[in-house]
Amino acid sequence: MSKKPKIQRASGMRDVLPEEQKYFQKILDIAENVVDFYGFKKIDTPILEETELFSKGTGLLTDIVQKQMYNLKTKGGDFLSLRPEFTPGVIRAYIEHGMKNLPQPVKFYSFGPLFRYEHSQAGRHRQFHQFNIEVIGEGDPVIDAQVIQIFYNILSELKLKNLIVEVNSIGDPQCRAYYKKVLTSFLKHKESLLCPDCRRRLRENPLRVLDCKEEKCQKITSQAPQIIDHLCEDCHRHFKGVLEFLDEIELPYRLNPYLVRGLDYYTKTVFEIFIDETQKTEDDKPAARSALVGGGRYDNLVKLLGGENTFAGGGAMGIERVVIAMKNKNIKIIKSDDRSVFLAQIGSMAKRKGLKLLEEFRKAKIEVGESFGKDSLKSQLKMADKMKAKYTLLLGQREALEGSVIIRDMENGKQETVKIESAVKEIQKRLKK
Ligand code: HAM
Repeated sequence: MSKKPKIQRASGMRDVLPEEQKYFQKILDIAENVVDFYGFKKIDTPILEETELFSKGTGLLTDIVQKQMYNLKTKGGDFLSLRPEFTPGVIRAYIEHGMKNLPQPVKFYSFGPLFRYEHSQAGRHRQFHQFNIEVIGEGDPVIDAQVIQIFYNILSELKLKNLIVEVNSIGDPQCRAYYKKVLTSFLKHKESLLCPDCRRRLRENPLRVLDCKEEKCQKITSQAPQIIDHLCEDCHRHFKGVLEFLDEIELPYRLNPYLVRGLDYYTKTVFEIFIDETQKTEDDKPAARSALVGGGRYDNLVKLLGGENTFAGGGAMGIERVVIAMKNKNIKIIKSDDRSVFLAQIGSMAKRKGLKLLEEFRKAKIEVGESFGKDSLKSQLKMADKMKAKYTLLLGQREALEGSVIIRDMENGKQETVKIESAVKEIQKRLKK
């Protein structure tokens, strides 16, 4: 029986192995391509930020800040946290670098790891990755629609079908405060029927009761007054505008009056994108429906973090969840290890010359397979076959002494000896045919 290694990865953390890197790369390539079209620029912010940035930005009442942050105290006495999301860091950078002086809106995208101390399960990890976008400095509802459209386009280009876009408006602090009162008084009468978490939420953040996944709570909230009916005129007009733009671009969406999102900074539009089926876990068990993308407008965050009153909105896509969705749909990434040319060598002198020759091919941007660690010709030729090489360069002791190399056509077995200096040119000529 094989023994477990003593040191294993920390609980909830994952290695992204080469097989999965292909998916990450593909998702990033497509996402960058799409946002580039819409004029987004890349921004990298630190993985470690002051804890206060998140307690203020993400919000003291959120599960993220209350339960999920990785906090540390430095030797110098600073309180820092591993970022649980991108948005507060990007906004801090916007303020810190005086970007209000740039033509507005500024559009940023980021990609990288985030950390949340969660119960790990399928699609929920303690270190995960997001592709995140933010549009700062524009309040028009067209921006909200465009953010949704961007993620919809990325997922569609990844060949994911049956996407469900859910949208809602949670108003601004004024109309939401009034709605909270209406909702609280409705829920107060039924408090004893709520789950313990929702009883706490009722006091701290009653809106979060609306997106509780417990059946008994959902039974109650399905009867609750809806925020849509309590929006102020401005929020109502804004939401109508977003929906009209979505209709115009024929993007299918569903109104979900229970969608409130788990972060404190949202104002007006909130949205999530799902895939229309129960996701399966990596070990093939069905998992709870989880969003691939989440986002919305947050018009008060810049001010809250010390900047001026500035409109903003954005969203983020969870890479691991998109990978699971792609695998469930059998979407394959074809990035083969095939090489059209293979370089085989026999003997130490040939190995040295081969190393130099390989560099010539690299400079000429021709991918050449090799197996310098192997000395037997037979096993090297086996490797060439595996890589489906069209040509194999054979470099033995004699060729090394003569300054030549044999080009073997792997299809018909024909061999030709050429000068080592002209090997690149000869291969180029043959590959062009
Ligand atoms: P979020 O809903 O917390 O929003 O996260 C966005 C997405 O990240 C989720 O829909 C999910 O795909 C993925 N995700 C979240 N937590 C985990 C986890 N523990 N494991 C795996 N994937 C996860 C935000 O983070 C906002 N900052 C989005 C935003 C940007 N809003 C405006 N701008």
